[in-house]
Amino acid sequence: MPTIRPSSPLSSGLLAALVALAAACSKTDASSAGPDAQAPDARASEADFPPGFLWGSATASFQVESGNANTDWGVWAATPGKIKNGDRPDDGPDALAHIDEDVKALTDTAQNAYRFSFEWGKLYPTRESLDSDTPDADTLAKYTNLVGKLRAAKITPMLTLSHFSLPLYLSNPRLPKEPQGWERPETVQAFARYCGRIAARFGKDIDLWATINEPVVAPLGGYIQGAFPPGLVLEMDRAFAVVKAEARGHAACYDAIHQADTVDADGDGKAALVGPVLHQREVLPQDPNDEADRAATKRVRYFNNLWFANASILGDWDDDFDGSLEGPGDRKADPALKGRADWVGVNYYTIMLVASSGGIVLPRVNAVIKVDRLDTPNPKTDFSWDIHPQGFGAVLDEIAIYKLPVFVTENGLADASDRNRARFLAEHLLQMGLARKRGVDVRGYFHWSLIDNFEWNSGYCPRFGLFSFDPKTRARTMRESAKTYKSLILAGRVRQGDIDAFPPYGAPAVCN
Ligand code: BGC
Repeated sequence: MPTIRPSSPLSSGLLAALVALAAACSKTDASSAGPDAQAPDARASEADFPPGFLWGSATASFQVESGNANTDWGVWAATPGKIKNGDRPDDGPDALAHIDEDVKALTDTAQNAYRFSFEWGKLYPTRESLDSDTPDADTLAKYTNLVGKLRAAKITPMLTLSHFSLPLYLSNPRLPKEPQGWERPETVQAFARYCGRIAARFGKDIDLWATINEPVVAPLGGYIQGAFPPGLVLEMDRAFAVVKAEARGHAACYDAIHQADTVDADGDGKAALVGPVLHQREVLPQDPNDEADRAATKRVRYFNNLWFANASILGDWDDDFDGSLEGPGDRKADPALKGRADWVGVNYYTIMLVASSGGIVLPRVNAVIKVDRLDTPNPKTDFSWDIHPQGFGAVLDEIAIYKLPVFVTENGLADASDRNRARFLAEHLLQMGLARKRGVDVRGYFHWSLIDNFEWNSGYCPRFGLFSFDPKTRARTMRESAKTYKSLILAGRVRQGDIDAFPPYGAPAVCN
């Protein structure tokens, strides 16, 4: 989830205001713990992971590749004033020119899985090229090389089909008043076509497919906070429309992948396993003793953590986002949506605090949401996010209500000094292991990120990588914390003692 610079149209704390819903409750309110609540066994001190568990890291094409100008994000990033320090995506790690180095980075740290995305607008630069299935030959060759090298190194690929950026022919930030991206009527079917094309070409090597990354975060950034294309602020109706279109796009993509990918690449009897990737937060009331804050917290939790899962897994379509299925456009167990998840991806970084007043109370919303610089005793990252590993356990417990395999598709922190990453990793892996002990079916963990990358509107200031890169030579350097990750992977176990061996969290730098 993006952190917004103070120079953005709304100030940081207010920008963090997310959506809550006018009428009340979540029907699947799995957790409403207070800020310091712990899962019953949270003090247990060790957890094991089975052989075959996927240990990896994650990237996204726009954040690590060069040459993605033909996308909405490409235009957005080239617009003066949109990116911190005027940073440019082409000055990043240039992943497609350094495939061997990145595969080596994975194997050097004992990782056996890699989550990444393809850049739709680079692979199919025009609508005609998509419709006629004539992808850009150079890009196709590079992606084919990447996937082939991963498989040769016995690294399981997980491919994300859409990670925020969209082709310019579907999403033009120069025309923000007109419907863009997911708002356009043709986007859902174009996306399904794209998913089918990719699955047909790469299904022999890829079994794990992620449809859309963080469907709530993109509209939050683009239509409420103004930090993502198309750069609109507080356009609640359009943001809801985007989330709904993404839910339809997810289902259509799921069907297209299953239709096109009939080859079992891993020999486990399944040709394709498809899931959504959700940005889950531990959502807590600003004042746990205030009934209005607690009610607002439930509404925000529903919107942020549950609405999309309900639609894509249960087929429950809450058209007006009011937390009930009684409205005129609502549907329960819609067969066009239901069951479109073979697994569910959880991205977990931090918590958010919710109040009923004391900031911008959004239209159609009765909540003020705060995500950074929180007035809590928790340690902070360079992004000013709280470090709160117990929240990780809580969101894993919450997602378990859907009874699906879970992949942790992102978890990490901005930590340029690398002082805090090893402790963060160990603490979060312990929480994940304890959730597994409680019965949550977590099958793999992908750290965000393999390498420092272009952090959307924040440019290169936040450093999320297990590896850094030299801006001139692009040479990769392993951070000390990557060695910790490797040793935990090799041990297949994390203990409280591993955590206690690290120094306490140090003061962060500030990147937002
Ligand atoms: C996104 C990534 C981003 C990370 C850190 C996630 O919400 O999927 O693209 O870099 O958060 O902010």
